[in-house]
Amino acid sequence: MTTSEVGLGLRRIDNGTESIASMKNLGILLSGRGSNFVAIADSIVANKISDARIAVVISNRADAPGLEIARQRGLSALCIPSKGKAREEHDRAVVSALFENKVDLICLAGYMRLLSPWFVQQFPQKILNIHPSLLPAFPGLEAQQQAFAFGVKVTGCTVHFVDEELDHGAIIVQNTVPVLDSDDERALAARILEQEHVAYTEAIKIVLKGNFEIVGRRMVEL
Ligand code: GRF
Repeated sequence: MTTSEVGLGLRRIDNGTESIASMKNLGILLSGRGSNFVAIADSIVANKISDARIAVVISNRADAPGLEIARQRGLSALCIPSKGKAREEHDRAVVSALFENKVDLICLAGYMRLLSPWFVQQFPQKILNIHPSLLPAFPGLEAQQQAFAFGVKVTGCTVHFVDEELDHGAIIVQNTVPVLDSDDERALAARILEQEHVAYTEAIKIVLKGNFEIVGRRMVEL
């Protein structure tokens, strides 16, 4: 039997033809339709992301379609309502649930809440977000519409680490999408979304593999 390090402290045990890998637990936070969550879940099923499982899906909104999809897929799905709660009070409940589910990596997937600095500090370099523009262009809400209205010829999506500023942390993956003369906002947003699904899987693979360092703002693969 041999053992080998496979990134982020994962240890694989090879025993003849059998390979038992210790799984990394992903926690998904969402507020809406959940297509990025579904793309991540599908990538795990298809073994495009290996050595990982979705330990819990958490929504701040009970009516989030993504939460229902998680239930249908037999995943642990929790609603922790944010309405009427102070940000940090809500964050403390979410962080408790993430710790209870032994989450190693958190993926924000259309989670329409700013995380408090306290939340971010609980999981240094362990929280990813996806944003539908090429950051630092067009942070904030409706990034696709912002890009379309500005008249850029190329836009895209960004997967980045979450830090204490909005849409700001070190960039892991960016995929570009051309803006066509024939586009309207919906058509452009749909093509960006396709690339989001590809980029999120790629970014999770890179982060789970763990052979990178962050130099200043730059993520550099080793
Ligand atoms: C995506 O466009 C993502 O970039 C942004 O919120 C949207 C979520 O979509 N952060 P979905 O719920 O994953 O379909």
